Amino acid sequence: MKITYLGHAAFMLSENGLNVLTDPFLSESPVRNNLNCDVKADYILVSHGHPDHLGDTVNLASKYNSRVVSIFEVATYLSKKGVENIAPMNIGGKLNTEFGYVKMCQAVHSSSIMEDDGRIYGGIAAGFIINFFEKIIYFAGDTALFYDMKLIGDLNKIDVALLPVGGNFTMDVDEALYALDLIKPKIVIPMHYNTWPVINADIEKFLKGAETKKIKGVCLGIDESVEI
Ligand code: NI
Ligand code: MN
Repeated sequence: MKITYLGHAAFMLSENGLNVLTDPFLSESPVRNNLNCDVKADYILVSHGHPDHLGDTVNLASKYNSRVVSIFEVATYLSKKGVENIAPMNIGGKLNTEFGYVKMCQAVHSSSIMEDDGRIYGGIAAGFIINFFEKIIYFAGDTALFYDMKLIGDLNKIDVALLPVGGNFTMDVDEALYALDLIKPKIVIPMHYNTWPVINADIEKFLKGAETKKIKGVCLGIDESVEI
């Protein structure tokens, strides 16, 4: 399978002509100047309602009839916005799909949806454990370090962990390195850093730290891919 980094927390998982997109913050992303933001996905997984994660979900899902997987409250919002193909879930749930399954798991973070006239309750923030054609991907979403990541590592044989490392809104490099001891992935790909100065991160330090734990760290540039 192929993992492509579209910047911030947006990844595309691809295999057998099937595409799964996470948190499609594309057209408003400062790291995607002049890059293509019109991407087609069979599924869009939305971790929470914040604008840097909900991103282009409404437009892309409406255009391509992507199946949007999100927590109940965000799904309800999307449905009101005209998105027809939705799979509402909640923490602890599992959705079986043609590529395997999506489990929704805990994240320690807030969630709300920004509208011009105020904020809409977004439930709580989530992460996803994705079985994508037998490869197990843990997409942490926005989260602080929390000790129950150990449960995620104990109950799932994680091939690739996609972890936020930028700090300020999420865990930082040092905490993400601690998280690796709990999750025990084979490969880690950092995300949610360098989009704005407030979440700048020392990625060299992160990659070296992962290496000392015998975990392969892969730092992807924008629109760069890795074959797993
Ligand atoms: Ni957030
Ligand atoms: Mn965020």
